[in-house]
Amino acid sequence: MSIVYLNGEFCPADEAKVSVFDRGFLLGDGVYEVIPAYAGNLFRLKEHLDRLQSSLDAIRLENPLSYEQWEEMLNQLVNDNFDPNLSVYLQVTRGAAVRDHAFPKDTPASVFAMANVIHALPDKCYKDGIATITVEDNRWQRCDIKSISLLANVLLRQQAVDQGVTESILIRDGFLTEGSASNVFAVIDGEIRTPAKGQYILPGITRDLVLELAHENNIPAVEKPVTESELFNAQEIWVTSSTKEVLPVTKLNGQAVGNGKPGKVWEKMIEVYRAYKQSLLDG
Ligand code: PDD
Repeated sequence: MSIVYLNGEFCPADEAKVSVFDRGFLLGDGVYEVIPAYAGNLFRLKEHLDRLQSSLDAIRLENPLSYEQWEEMLNQLVNDNFDPNLSVYLQVTRGAAVRDHAFPKDTPASVFAMANVIHALPDKCYKDGIATITVEDNRWQRCDIKSISLLANVLLRQQAVDQGVTESILIRDGFLTEGSASNVFAVIDGEIRTPAKGQYILPGITRDLVLELAHENNIPAVEKPVTESELFNAQEIWVTSSTKEVLPVTKLNGQAVGNGKPGKVWEKMIEVYRAYKQSLLDG
């Protein structure tokens, strides 16, 4: 039985209970993070805690823990549930109170965290790439907040599942935004391109790392809008997330992307990404 953290205590998962009045449960009023931990090391922790702080600021909820307290708690969680490849999920909600849309007064936030083994996608997905579809991005205008209210993302992702493909790529007003649970990159004219941060995409930690590694390794990369037709004509497409890392897309709406195989730029990027990850583990 895994050990989870709930409001100051560590306990077996089946003993963790939250109130039915919790605003996370009733209203989806909360934010979350997903942080990988490789060989016991939380990956890009500072960046994840900074993004958590931005999400909390955006929903006007005080951070219930200091960075040091988060670090200590998350490290204990990783140790108590050790596996070489973990993903730590944490969420902060506005607490349990009589149901009312307005913020409650003097209500402590609820803090929950768990660690799950990352079930990596089969090797085949990295070797052959994945199939995706495009769908209309009908989410709200604050996609930069890592909100636990994920109904729109759930419905968009399910469209991919229903069509037997791995991810939905979202298009808003003729432009690429992101995936249902990932950021998206395209290689256009030999240059890596991804939309700039803003209200319509989540500022992905993996996305930032890919841009950082591209710059360090002299791989041309820009943050620039991608039109739907540019996406369809891209030489390569990738999706990125903390649990998928950098995944090549080789099919879009049933059509081959580029030559239908993971591209040369992706091969270079995954090599530098894995080397970076290894360098952190080697200390
Ligand atoms: N989701 N965009 C969306 C909408 C996401 O849900 C995610 C990740 C990303 C990638 O962000 P990052 O690189 O920081 O993981 C982009 C997580 C993994 C999830 O909801 O499980």
